[in-house]
Amino acid sequence: MDSDFSIRILDNFPYFNNYDIRITDDDTMFVTGSSGIYVVNREELLSGSSISYDLMDARKGLNSALTANSWNYYGEEGFLYLCCDNGAFVADIDSYMNDVHTYHMNVASVFLDGEQYHVDSNAPITVSRDVKKIELLPEVINYTVQDPNVGYYLEGFDNHWTVVPQSSLSGITYTNIPSGSYTFHMAVLGRDESQVLAERTYSLVKPEDIYDKPWFIAYAAVSAMLFGFFLLYLWFRRVIEQANLRIRMGDQTIEAIANTVDAKDVRTSQHSMRVGKYSVLIAQKMGFSKKECENLRKAASLHDIGKIAIPDSILNKPSRLTDEEYAIMKSHTTRGEEILSGFTLVEHVKEGALYHHERYDGRGYPQGLKGEDIPLYGRIIGVADAFDAMTANRIYRNQMDIGYVLNELRKGRGTQFDPQVVDIFLQILEEGTIDINKLYPQMQSTDTGDKPSASGKGEAGKAEGTEKDSRKAEDAGKAAGKE
Ligand SMILES: [Fe+2]
Repeated sequence: MDSDFSIRILDNFPYFNNYDIRITDDDTMFVTGSSGIYVVNREELLSGSSISYDLMDARKGLNSALTANSWNYYGEEGFLYLCCDNGAFVADIDSYMNDVHTYHMNVASVFLDGEQYHVDSNAPITVSRDVKKIELLPEVINYTVQDPNVGYYLEGFDNHWTVVPQSSLSGITYTNIPSGSYTFHMAVLGRDESQVLAERTYSLVKPEDIYDKPWFIAYAAVSAMLFGFFLLYLWFRRVIEQANLRIRMGDQTIEAIANTVDAKDVRTSQHSMRVGKYSVLIAQKMGFSKKECENLRKAASLHDIGKIAIPDSILNKPSRLTDEEYAIMKSHTTRGEEILSGFTLVEHVKEGALYHHERYDGRGYPQGLKGEDIPLYGRIIGVADAFDAMTANRIYRNQMDIGYVLNELRKGRGTQFDPQVVDIFLQILEEGTIDINKLYPQMQSTDTGDKPSASGKGEAGKAEGTEKDSRKAEDAGKAAGKE
């Protein structure tokens, strides 16, 4: 009502269900209503124009509705007593200032895996180790009409603050936080979010078990790693043992076959093994790897395997072979290749058996290959075989004098033997890698000349004389090579 008693409707007021008005000395009007207390400027309201206002409602701490048709009492001390649905509220309106920030905050409820936990403000929130989900229900009471930013941060778990408007603040959930001690911070922040206007903290503890201790984790990890290494070691050892067993089985099988071959020829004990050994000495000088040398040793050990197919009557015949017998004898090369045709464990094994009687000048057998057309295995084993044939006793003659043997090797350079291979072998003999004395034990036991190899060339001639004439056409270095 104006001073002229005319009534004017203030239809700019934002609400209609209003009860009482309290006007302070500075023309601030507190209009109570069922939705809260509106705080407006009297002059602004009466102007009839649009107004700005503040509303003190549940978000600002007045979390109960004012009761209709009830008295609200303003006391002398500046308190406004309000009748509300669930009791009397007191508002200190004399102290009301829009820019004064007064906040109360707390964690109203805590739920651990869905079960409510009683929060004791004087004790940490203690969470069992097996709890997976922690839900915090924060509450901020703001005695202003503003909607400030509220931040929260679980120190020890979160990396940064989470900031939301107070009006959007709801339950905060953490899942699977590790055991440890934490501090839950909640704060009302200034507009730029860097200023903390009010803050409250709660301690939160999730007890550690022994399993959570760093030293125990390290111990368990190291133990598991050592155990893993141990299992790995056992596995490797077993693999290596099995591999070694297979290798030994292979070696022993090859040795048994070689011994079987040598046993057929009554006076060539260990011939195959020695040829393998000499071949390896040559190969080492030629730069073969350890693996290649071992492969060559096996191939050389089997070079005479074809003799299995040669009748003993021919193989052990002390007298000269007939043409027919000599042809059968020579077939041990091709028979060897046939026997080894399915033998895949040793590379080039067939080459050793088939080509060890080829000659560098092309006059060997079975194919008459020449020079480096003869596979290397054949050329190496050929030299080793000839040396052992001459330095070992044979059925048809005794071992030859070493001087004679060396001479035959030199003579056969480029004719019977690959020059490079025979040169290397001569160098090996010169260096003493092969103990000649062991090959000629009788020479050590007596110096009377009562030895099988008494007279060098004459002996060779004697040996040659036991062979078929066609064999004589072969190089003298092969004189001992009745095969
Ligand atoms: Fe042979």
